[in-house]
Amino acid sequence: MDRISIRGGMPLNGTIPISGAKNSALKVLAAALLSDQTLTLENMPELADTRFMADLLRSLGVSVVWARDSGVATLHAADIASTIAPYDLVRKMRATFNVLGPLLARVGHATVSLPGGCAIGARPVDLHLKAFEAMGADIHIEAGYVKAAALRGLRGARIAFPFVSVGATEHAMLAAVLAQGETILENCAQEPEIADLAACLIAMGARIEGAGSPTIRIVGVTSLQPARHRVLADRIEAGTYAIAAAAACGDVLLAGANADHIGALINRLRAAGVEANVVNEGVRVRRVNGRLDAVDVDTQPFPGFPTDLQAQFMALMTLAKGRSRFKENIFENRYMHAPELTRLGADIAVHGSEAIVTGVDKLVGAPVMATDLRASVSLVVAGLAAEGETVVNRVYHLDRGFERLEAKLKACGAEVERLSG
Ligand code: EPZ
Repeated sequence: MDRISIRGGMPLNGTIPISGAKNSALKVLAAALLSDQTLTLENMPELADTRFMADLLRSLGVSVVWARDSGVATLHAADIASTIAPYDLVRKMRATFNVLGPLLARVGHATVSLPGGCAIGARPVDLHLKAFEAMGADIHIEAGYVKAAALRGLRGARIAFPFVSVGATEHAMLAAVLAQGETILENCAQEPEIADLAACLIAMGARIEGAGSPTIRIVGVTSLQPARHRVLADRIEAGTYAIAAAAACGDVLLAGANADHIGALINRLRAAGVEANVVNEGVRVRRVNGRLDAVDVDTQPFPGFPTDLQAQFMALMTLAKGRSRFKENIFENRYMHAPELTRLGADIAVHGSEAIVTGVDKLVGAPVMATDLRASVSLVVAGLAAEGETVVNRVYHLDRGFERLEAKLKACGAEVERLSG
């Protein structure tokens, strides 16, 4: 199993190009199932997760031609060959559950394994299923599989989500595009990936208004057209490298990053004493020497501070002056990085959904590992700031969501190596 070795203490200076957003790419890939026409996706990040989703789509009968050098993937679901997503595929990556809505909307039935829990929490899909029921689908759960049918097609509906869910908002949108009549979604997630999915669906001929606001209105259409869409820049990757630049006392241009998408992070970085400026090419993050101030973090749905940057920011705060209080409001078990950061010398006390980080003078490298993507990259961030060598095990987590991580960091002067085997 590959590991990543980081020799800390080198400043990060240079430009990091920001890739297409994983969490948008996965949903626009699923959108290809809705249409018998081609969908061309630009800026497709080459990640284990996007490759995996492409393989699932192939198994359902979608032709996927992906030119890796240009990042352009052309998908064509002329015919749907299968409507079954088996356990082994959905278990490995939850986002594959998102094929249920498009299959149901296009073919009228689908059988998709329930995704089950994962390291960061239980992550049920009840809101997704209630949305499909509201659109007229019959849903049965049998032997761990969701069997969904709407043999006379889905009908538009008014759906008020009891709380904000990114996945349920996106999944309901994907299904409503081909439903008969109007769907109104209320209390929707407002993450930039929602507006990106809507932009892709609109290019395909869908009628959607309000994506990115709490209320989305969709008028169903009977068929879609060929389309081309460019996946937006990954705000979590951009935010991670912004934090890495701060941790390593660097000066980094995040090329292609959209400052509006990382506004809450920029606010926290500035409060801690890091310079973050919007420039023509993206966002420039600079930290001059001296300890940062401790600041608090409260994760919230967009535009609040993203749960997907909580671990990385905690790594930064381990070396700040004073105490920072973290409150994780989205997932119930998202502090697995805390004991690993403690192995590097951090002082972190976790109490349920809260964590108190008391800044220490230095971190010292050690072997560490984590059980999810964002937790793993937080250990890379800590390793950049630690003295000596940090070895991050279970690199496959990083490969799920960070394109060319070592190459991007190395180009800015970091001493990072992948150790094979
Ligand atoms: C998406 O997950 C992202 N994943 C997550 O990123 C991200 O952390 C999360 O949104 C929040 O921003 C993808 O886009 C593939 P939710 P999602 O539905 O859609 C509960 C990463 O590292 N809930 O907004 O699954 C749920 O358990 C990943 O890239 C229900 O109870 O998140 C959670 O507590 C990790 N029932 C809360 O809602 C439901 O039916 C918000 O989850 C759905 C969700």
